[in-house]
Amino acid sequence: MTREEALRYLNETMVPEEGVIPAYILSDPTIYKLEHEKIFMKTWVLLGHESEIPNKNDYMLRDLAGYSVIISRGQDEEIRAFYNMCTHRGMKLCRADHGNKANFTCPYHGFNFKNTGELIGVPLQNDIYGGKLDTSKMSLNKVTLGTYRGLIFGTWNDNPQPLDDFLSDFKWYLDIGLGRTEMEVVGPPQKFIVHSNWKIGSDNFVSDSYHTMVTHGSIAQLGMVPSATYSKKGYQVHTDNGHGCLIGMPNPDFPFPEELKDEYKAHLTPEQYDLISNMKNLIGTLFPNLSILVSHTKVKGQLVSNTTMRLWKPVGPDKMEVMTWFMVEKNASEDWKYRSREAYILTFSPSGIFEQDDTEVFTDITAAASGVMPFAKQLTYNYTMGMHREPVTDFPGPGVAYGDKFSEANSRNYYRYWLNLMNS
Ligand SMILES: [Fe+2]
Repeated sequence: MTREEALRYLNETMVPEEGVIPAYILSDPTIYKLEHEKIFMKTWVLLGHESEIPNKNDYMLRDLAGYSVIISRGQDEEIRAFYNMCTHRGMKLCRADHGNKANFTCPYHGFNFKNTGELIGVPLQNDIYGGKLDTSKMSLNKVTLGTYRGLIFGTWNDNPQPLDDFLSDFKWYLDIGLGRTEMEVVGPPQKFIVHSNWKIGSDNFVSDSYHTMVTHGSIAQLGMVPSATYSKKGYQVHTDNGHGCLIGMPNPDFPFPEELKDEYKAHLTPEQYDLISNMKNLIGTLFPNLSILVSHTKVKGQLVSNTTMRLWKPVGPDKMEVMTWFMVEKNASEDWKYRSREAYILTFSPSGIFEQDDTEVFTDITAAASGVMPFAKQLTYNYTMGMHREPVTDFPGPGVAYGDKFSEANSRNYYRYWLNLMNS
């Protein structure tokens, strides 16, 4: 199938506002290539968190749309990113995942680059180039970066939408999720491969509270949550650009560090603080593939919150690498941090009970969507849940809010934006 045929067929078979999503978009190689070009090469994608490289000359390797990039904090504290390719012969300049270096030496011919990008050393330069090599034209290729609340985003787009506009109203929810006070990442992110299309993760976190009572039903049976329908109460909210989240409410207990209440108040608006004080959980997806999660779990009889963000990184139509970061309030007590981490490990770390339930489902959905049959038989998914509902007007945050978490409105919004970009 050519790209033109794929796009024509996509527009014939996919109607997000009517809740019609074709199964083949979770497996088709042409769709996957188009996503790479029209979404991952164009939008902002999360690279990491500033607290991962706290010191001068710290660096980490990440990939942006599948291309390796070096993200480095310079001597001047500024964070920069470069394509991880020597400008002489194209060798991967840096091969360690993270470390501390003021400059990088290419393993092929020894070309040496400062962590600000300039080429500062060429072995035998004057002799072999006769003093004629213009090193000023050989700096590393810079990656466009933007940051928000410690999150580092990158894009290959030379003329991107400003990051602020891209995040739009979803910043209000990112503030609560990852910016309610100074947050830090604990350790390097964990990475694991799941034989799943990447969109299933994004979709699950953007709107799917409904699966909780079945997929994670054993958690209710174990008594870790009050009832199987505990995930229904609250709000489902979406904003421009496909972003959306689920806010579970109410919650009579304050599961965050008591001693940080003033810090929270300083970082948040009164409306955001009221919400977080009464919030049971926050689950959301920032388009295209960053999901965030704040959830509360009882550890040794005490309710404690834990925060994670994860990236559903495509590595093929039917395979993704999941990167998960455990994040914690930087100024919380060591004891609280420890308990929060225990809660994370128990629930949404790679070995967590929720995570294992979910990835099992993601894998089977992808297998059922694979090959030519779902395409030939035009198999579609039903995303009509909640279409009868009107948005509520008493929700304090921006965006379109519904007063019930069981809805697929956020997925329809997510896929509408996905389809717009695919057509761009
Ligand atoms: Fe789940």
